[in-house]
Amino acid sequence: MNASAPGSDELVLVVDFGAQYAQLIARRVREANVYSEIVAPTISAAEVAEKQPIGIIFSGGPDSVHADGAIAIDAGVYELGIPILGICYGAQLIAQQNGGLVDRTDRGEYGRTTLTLDTDGGALLRGTPAEQSVWMSHFDAIVKPPLGVTATASTPDAPVAAFEDADQQLYGVQFHPEVMHTEQGQHVIEQFLEHGCGASGTWTMASIIDTAVEQIREQVGDLRALCGLSGGVDSAVAAAVVHKAIGDQLTCVFVDTGLMRLNEGEQVVETFERNFGVELIHVEAGERFFEALAGVTEPEAKRKAIGELFIRVFEDAQGQVEGADFLVQGTLYPDVIESGSEHASTIKSHHNVGGLPDDIDFALVEPLRSLFKDEVRQVGRELGLPDEIVERQPFPGPGLGVRIIGEVTPDKVATLQHADFIVREELKNAGLEREIWQSFAVLPDIRSVGVMGDERTYGYPVIIRAVTSEDAMTADWARIPYDVLETMSSRVINEVPGVNRVAYDITSKPPGTIEWE
Ligand code: XMP
Repeated sequence: MNASAPGSDELVLVVDFGAQYAQLIARRVREANVYSEIVAPTISAAEVAEKQPIGIIFSGGPDSVHADGAIAIDAGVYELGIPILGICYGAQLIAQQNGGLVDRTDRGEYGRTTLTLDTDGGALLRGTPAEQSVWMSHFDAIVKPPLGVTATASTPDAPVAAFEDADQQLYGVQFHPEVMHTEQGQHVIEQFLEHGCGASGTWTMASIIDTAVEQIREQVGDLRALCGLSGGVDSAVAAAVVHKAIGDQLTCVFVDTGLMRLNEGEQVVETFERNFGVELIHVEAGERFFEALAGVTEPEAKRKAIGELFIRVFEDAQGQVEGADFLVQGTLYPDVIESGSEHASTIKSHHNVGGLPDDIDFALVEPLRSLFKDEVRQVGRELGLPDEIVERQPFPGPGLGVRIIGEVTPDKVATLQHADFIVREELKNAGLEREIWQSFAVLPDIRSVGVMGDERTYGYPVIIRAVTSEDAMTADWARIPYDVLETMSSRVINEVPGVNRVAYDITSKPPGTIEWE
């Protein structure tokens, strides 16, 4: 086992030169069943050697290698005898630091370009078409490969679009193999891993789980751990892994705020208590939340009321657990990367269950710290969690409280739960669920006139919101086919009492937000 690679004896380091692509590269390597980790370009050769990687990938980056203060890698890294693949800026850096030449071309290349293989394409491209489509994004170009290294492909504006030398263990591509638009991208990465690094590709979900289980047992010993379940994917998978490791030394706390989606609370109880046999403290706190929300209409005031009460209820439940020493957190790898420290163990303030107390005095157990979201879902599946939980869309901590405009009442929650269920069910029936980032219904604080049968109605409208997104920072409204919208609309109006109108929100973010409050 490699001490730096959970569940594997093979580690590939991805050096992040500041492009948005480093995470994508790390994921592509993992898709080839090789564990990868992102490191800063300031890493020293000694630090690299200590981690004992089987290969290193330099990412692209926004700099020019000729710019003042351009980031370079410790040249000692080239002396370690570890295969290196440079991508875009990474390839230019390898050329520049090893006797090649990088020059400014008349025009850069951005977007799709045709790559032509010069020789047989070398180890990276052998057996692929002589001409193929690749994704480019560069201004400088390599005009001479590193000393003793052969160019293996070119494009109209990049005379050395790929190079390699097996003896020196140097590989480079000017294009971006990690993006979908590069036809042979995954192949290039896999060739580097297999032929360049001699990787066996044995990192699997089962091996991650085994290692996590071992580590948790070692960390917790015969003490006790507590885990707050929110109904979301991360806390559910974290709890399932920890339960596999320490069984009944784990107690879960699930606070049902009454503001969850239809059947969501039951799903959590069914899965964890009945199927997994987890010791679960299930607090049905709906009434207390409705009391706290009576008369509250302003969005931030609602969030505050929900967040504060959540903490109080969680603390009460925690008091019932004798001597818990550890708190399980569903921290993911992107949170670790963003926090900028591999070893940071702080509790996120924007915790999805609505905020945990600041002064919690627990040691943290974070079994998902090295995983990306899609890997967490795979681990969940492997552990037997149902699709309803593993595939769940992001859901705000304050729940339906911020999807009911104005005062939140039990009746309004019941109305919204029903409409929201229909919207999501129809999207699922249409097979569109996975393309959509979040889809839900919103209940505004207005009523309008309608006619049903011979009767005039005066009821609530329901707004359907469905967006596509990568990370919730920006989002676009989903182009749901008209017939699917029509089914949603007629079902909501016919099946949900008190609703007589359905609207579809066609605002992107920005200028809108995903939620309505
Ligand atoms: P907006 O509405 O700002 O939402 O575009 C971006 C993402 O954040 C979620 N969201 C929240 N999550 N507590 C949370 O845990 C909150 O108060 C909250 N408000 C919004 C939202 O669902 C979307 O995924």
